[in-house]
Amino acid sequence: MMDIKKAMETLGVTDGVNQGVSTGAKWFDTEGATTSSFSPIDGKEIGKVKNGTLDDYEMVIKKAQEAFKEWRLVPAPIRAEVVRQIGLELRKYKNELGALVTYEMGKIYQEGLGEVQEMIDICDFAVGQARLMNGVSLQSERPQHRLSEQYQPLGVVGIVTSYNFPVAVWAWNSALAMAAGDVVVWKPSSKTPITALATQKIIADVLVRNNVPEGVCNLIVAKSSVMGDNFLADKRVNLLSVTGSTAVGKRVGGIVGKRLGKTILELGGNNAVIMTPDANIPMAVASTVFGTVGTAGQRCTSTRRIIIHEDIYNEVRDKMVAAYHKIESKVGNALDENFLVGPLIDEHSVTLFRNAVEQVEKEGGKVLFGGQKLEGPGFESGNYVMPCIAEAENHFEIVQEETFAPIVYLIKYSGDVMNAIEIQNDVPQGLSSCIFTDNVREAELFTSVVGSDCGIANVNVGTSGAEIGGAFGGEKDTGGGRESGSDAWKAYMRRQTSTVNYGTELPLAQGIKFDL
Ligand code: UN1
Repeated sequence: MMDIKKAMETLGVTDGVNQGVSTGAKWFDTEGATTSSFSPIDGKEIGKVKNGTLDDYEMVIKKAQEAFKEWRLVPAPIRAEVVRQIGLELRKYKNELGALVTYEMGKIYQEGLGEVQEMIDICDFAVGQARLMNGVSLQSERPQHRLSEQYQPLGVVGIVTSYNFPVAVWAWNSALAMAAGDVVVWKPSSKTPITALATQKIIADVLVRNNVPEGVCNLIVAKSSVMGDNFLADKRVNLLSVTGSTAVGKRVGGIVGKRLGKTILELGGNNAVIMTPDANIPMAVASTVFGTVGTAGQRCTSTRRIIIHEDIYNEVRDKMVAAYHKIESKVGNALDENFLVGPLIDEHSVTLFRNAVEQVEKEGGKVLFGGQKLEGPGFESGNYVMPCIAEAENHFEIVQEETFAPIVYLIKYSGDVMNAIEIQNDVPQGLSSCIFTDNVREAELFTSVVGSDCGIANVNVGTSGAEIGGAFGGEKDTGGGRESGSDAWKAYMRRQTSTVNYGTELPLAQGIKFDL
């Protein structure tokens, strides 16, 4: 088991009081409240953080604006060289940062490592992308005119991250934003500030070595009540990339929309797996269990519903329950590699989980496995639950909601795959989805125009655990934003169409005559 004290020492964060505001390599004494971060694993205090105030926020935004003036002048591949070195530095600290993610967030160490690997991967991705942040050359209707589109840096990018991916989502955003010539202001989740501080410390050396101006990579630990709305309403923040619940996203969208600011919203999912009679059932079950109990059901992409054809329903149900029996002895200290399911983030999450279990029964569902809060040795923090499988119907209120915990609903369908697709789409959210089938017609229908309405639609691959190479995000109540791979970089740049006349005549478009 990783020695967490040692890891923290290596990462330069203390179990005493840490400063919570940085403009890159510099840290500031602030007057905000001192808050504590507790591990969901053992309930112990990890460390304290001196929060920023509104004055600190002002200072940071001014610094960011100044830094942007310089940073945008650095050629993109040179900016990305800094990102490349950040990736190298993250490789050096992968084990320690992975362990701290585990200790502060509660995901198992393998997943903590996976999270840091996502950071490394997106850094590598951004390095190549920086040479290909390309516009297009178009055909002008006018003689001796050149028509083109290009992408320019956007400015200040605000990044608000959630506890469940406390550092990877920052990396998705900041690696691309930095390469794109933007400066970033990161407000981490107040449930996981120490991993954010550690990340900022990892990148500081790189920033200094490369003479990156202070103000390019900023971090503010502050309560939403202190900073939240000011950040969102601030016209100086050109883009806000926010990960959180749909309720949070609606608030953010409202405030930023009012000033016609840009947003990338990554909100809740209600992700379903469809299993048809042509599914490879052992493979489907094994994959789905990772989707349902991985990260203790606290991924946006976690599997919340399994829509099973009636012909294979009993078999799948029994295999799922059997798989959960294997999980039974594997819920525990996430730092200990013998366990596969760690704690929930806090007691409030446990309450939400328990409420969901009770509600699904009240609405007529049936709990087949788990659902209880765990007590006894090893579970003293009060954050551990036994993952739950319940039979339910798609229209149940609780099934229509995202419960950010390991509860999954089994839903039966009959007839054609289109019936399953209809059920899968019949929720407010639209993040991730998948179908298990070896039938090409079913697979193609699922990914066709009449198929899944989600941002992610997989075949024989579960709902969670996306690679960084594809664009990540979803439709409907999931918010519509796209981060990470593919052409997500475009959201971090402003687009400009440019017509250049290299002749000596002044022809107007549309053939309009206007002679003085
Ligand atoms: C999230 O839960 O906010 O696809 C992100 C996945 C991860 C990212 C999840 N690569 O599950």
